[in-house]
Amino acid sequence: MKKWGILTVCLLLTGSLLAGCGDKNSDKTSGSDNGGSKTEAKTIVLGTSADFPPYEFHKMIGGKDQIVGFDIEIAKQIAADMGANLEVKDMDFKALLSELSSGRVDFVISGMTPDENRKKAVDFSNNYYKAEQAVVIREKDKDKYSTMKSLEGVSFGIQTGSIQEDIAKTIPNAKITGLSKINDIIMQLNSGRVDASIMEKPVAEAFLKNVKGLAIADAVPDYKEDGYAIGVKKGNTELVDHINKTLDRLNSEKKIEQFVSEASDLAAQK
Ligand code: ARG
Repeated sequence: MKKWGILTVCLLLTGSLLAGCGDKNSDKTSGSDNGGSKTEAKTIVLGTSADFPPYEFHKMIGGKDQIVGFDIEIAKQIAADMGANLEVKDMDFKALLSELSSGRVDFVISGMTPDENRKKAVDFSNNYYKAEQAVVIREKDKDKYSTMKSLEGVSFGIQTGSIQEDIAKTIPNAKITGLSKINDIIMQLNSGRVDASIMEKPVAEAFLKNVKGLAIADAVPDYKEDGYAIGVKKGNTELVDHINKTLDRLNSEKKIEQFVSEASDLAAQK
């Protein structure tokens, strides 16, 4: 359901990480007014595209649809270190950077690669994780698509606004269908409307655990990926500094590895 998308709208002060958004009951996110409460709890708003297990994804837990994943765990730690509440806004991946620039979200954690184009528009934290790219195909095409050459002219389902779009464009004559959500790409692949996709390997592996008939191709895209980083509005050095401190702490406590393995287990559960 879209409930995360229609959460309390907080008017965030430009450049300020801790906009006063009124208080929230920590276990209740249904507020539709914007204030009137007594306490001064601060809220920071995370933008993410929760279609990306094990990074961020929807899961029914205790009968409730929740957004979980290791990016979300990192976001919780950032908020906790700042003494702030965390509000999660789920949206299409392609909307994330403009939501950040307009101040509707304070930070973005969404398995985002800090590539040169994005660095022009927003600022990034240090990298917190790294993963390779993978080509996903139907299992029965495994022999057919074993090299990048064999993927020339093939139809690809690709997440709009992702770096995978750039990678797909380097494949000669690739026919690219842009889709907002990875779940839709998986469905289109399964039903034969597209023949291949490119996504991060951990994401491909997470989907493949629950979807029959798909496989990771032996072909590996050539992309020198720089890992993942957390985006903030351009110039918000205060928030980047906070975030980097939390990342340093999590790294020294080996927490990121732990979050990744817990999220992978959760993603694999039916
Ligand atoms: N790493 C890729 C990029 O930055 C894909 C990220 C997609 N993230 C997501 N939550 N769907 O473009």
